[in-house]
Amino acid sequence: MVNTQVELSGVTLSNPIIPASGTFGFGYEFAELYDINMLGSFSFKGTTKEPRFGNPTPRIAECTAGMINSVGLQNPGVEKVISEELPKLSKCFHKPVIANISGFSVEEYAYCCELIDKEEQVGIIEVNVSCPNVHNGGMSFGTSPEAAAEVTRAVKKVTTKPVYIKLSPNVTDIVSIAKACEEAGADGISMINTLMGMRIDLKTKRPVIANKMGGFSGSAIFPVAVRMVYQVYDAVKIPIIGMGGVTTAEDVIELMLAGATAVQVGAANLVNPFACKDIIEDLPRVMEKYQITNLKDIIGGAHK
Ligand code: SIN
Repeated sequence: MVNTQVELSGVTLSNPIIPASGTFGFGYEFAELYDINMLGSFSFKGTTKEPRFGNPTPRIAECTAGMINSVGLQNPGVEKVISEELPKLSKCFHKPVIANISGFSVEEYAYCCELIDKEEQVGIIEVNVSCPNVHNGGMSFGTSPEAAAEVTRAVKKVTTKPVYIKLSPNVTDIVSIAKACEEAGADGISMINTLMGMRIDLKTKRPVIANKMGGFSGSAIFPVAVRMVYQVYDAVKIPIIGMGGVTTAEDVIELMLAGATAVQVGAANLVNPFACKDIIEDLPRVMEKYQITNLKDIIGGAHK
């Protein structure tokens, strides 16, 4: 009998598997396929102050071992998320959920987080300072330690729930940004968001994606995620939610050995809507294979 339970800032998860924001909607779409209460938690669609239609199409480009997206934070806006999406979600998911929040100014991040913090079902707030697909927002707050710290401080001032800052890998020194967020009061780090990528269509000789570039995700980026989680674990004391190209239970264990306390699964959900279910069901077998009885004992194990 193995124990898959982990804890994120006082929130207990029956297992560490969390569908990543933008790959699982607001949950109820997937609840038609299986009982999503088997998930550790899930991070809902990136939410902003105003409703957003998103970027022009095409927004997706296929790649070997991954995909590029440039969705552009399409969402109905925080007020509708609270009045329409969360009530639907609460009917099919009975665990604390992770609220993923994006913004175009420090004030906007604080505004949305203050509202979402009051929602009973929200267990953790994940502040996305790493969306590569919008101008003057998202990633521009996540590429400097000062800007990431400023967002963290503003959000912490108006919230009571644990705040995790979702970091971009599109930087030269992710460690300094993670440390700045920790010093500014972050309760945890989520990492990594997508890597900037681009494809060109040989027939049209033009970029495949209307916005030209987008965020590259999928199994190809997994080694980058492992490397960055390993580096940040060495530098901070707060928990890390690791993500980036996770597709198997073996990947979950590897990312936890690097330093992740919990693991998000992103692009894999778009290829196989049962990806998280499959990983959760396979986890005990893989734990037994590697003689792991208690999953939380392996967090950061590769550093010893
Ligand atoms: C998007 O909506 O463009 C993706 C969100 C993200 O990468 O943070």
